[in-house]
Amino acid sequence: MIDTYGRRITYLRLSVTELCNLRCRYCMPEDGICKKDHAEMLTEDEMIAAVEAAASLGVRKLRITGGEPLVKKNILSICRRAAAVEGIEDLAITTNGIALSELAVPLREAGVNRVNISLDTLDPEKYHRITRVGTLDKAWAGIEAALAAGFDRVKINTILIGGFNEDEITSLAALTQKYPLDVRFIELMPMYDSGDFGKAAYLPNTEVRKRLPDAVAQENDGGVAELFRLPNAQGQIGLISSLSNHFCAACNRIRLTADGKLKPCLHSPQEFSIKGMTREQMRAQFEHTIFSKPEQHEDLSAEQRSQAGRNMNQIGG
Ligand code: GTP
Ligand code: 5AD
Ligand code: SF4
Repeated sequence: MIDTYGRRITYLRLSVTELCNLRCRYCMPEDGICKKDHAEMLTEDEMIAAVEAAASLGVRKLRITGGEPLVKKNILSICRRAAAVEGIEDLAITTNGIALSELAVPLREAGVNRVNISLDTLDPEKYHRITRVGTLDKAWAGIEAALAAGFDRVKINTILIGGFNEDEITSLAALTQKYPLDVRFIELMPMYDSGDFGKAAYLPNTEVRKRLPDAVAQENDGGVAELFRLPNAQGQIGLISSLSNHFCAACNRIRLTADGKLKPCLHSPQEFSIKGMTREQMRAQFEHTIFSKPEQHEDLSAEQRSQAGRNMNQIGG
């Protein structure tokens, strides 16, 4: 389907849970979240009906997100059924990797073709500090399991945080030379209640370019990242510049939250519920959502937070 501004909407991000086994400082509050009533959340059948409705309108790429999607008990069944929906050509998942050592192979077998894994540092103490509760060893074991499981592609998502990890840009980027991985540096987005990061934390991705003078620009692959490659690298470097160079004009996506709200834009407060609807009603609500997609969102900065009205764990990024 084509929206009011001529953008073809082909990509659905489906958040299957708000819950997470980590507590990243830029994503959610320390105490976690107030667990919502089970009855408010989408059932597995509703999620699949929503994927079918979206596919009937031209969605071809589905990404499963969270919270942390791998804490969802029925995640393999959701993936298996979603992969079988007619029209879905690409099924991907975004995870923190903690549970991947057990789940990489079953996910691959369930029809997931690509995984993106969050990793902000290679230092165990800093990993624990930024995730509040996580262990680097576990996340790394998950990355190794993903590499061994034969996914089409494995990407690392690194949130660039001034004063925290800019000194690791070169070592994180070097992972693309050692492993068949892509590493993407993502500008920190100020969400509703996503930690008290000061101005200096919001580094533009030009900082990454400065520190990687040997990186050669590559052709865009249709995603939101600007791509580069280091000499002798097996994977690419990506820059996702949500603040310094937002990509709304080329946006091809819509989002569905775990509590059944369709979001036309990551940073807009607009939401349309599909909870309790039939597939046909969902289809109409998808159409309404796509036509409500704003041309672009407001600029974001340390002072001007996202208008999404939710934290990242309640949207899925
Ligand atoms: P690929 O399918 O591999 O291209 O993945 P992706 O980049 O679409 O998804 P992923 O879940 O790995 O997201 C990477 C980062 O991009 C996260 O920080 C997301 O929050 C951010 N992101 C994804 N979509 C959007 C968007 O529409 N707008 C903005 N500003 N950021 C987004
Ligand atoms: N800014 C940018 N990216 C974020 N993510 C979570 N919170 C933020 C934020 N405030 C990322 C995660 C994950 C993806 C789903 O969104 O690191 O890779
Ligand atoms: Fe969990 Fe991902 Fe949020 Fe970290 S960024 S708390 S891993 S949902």
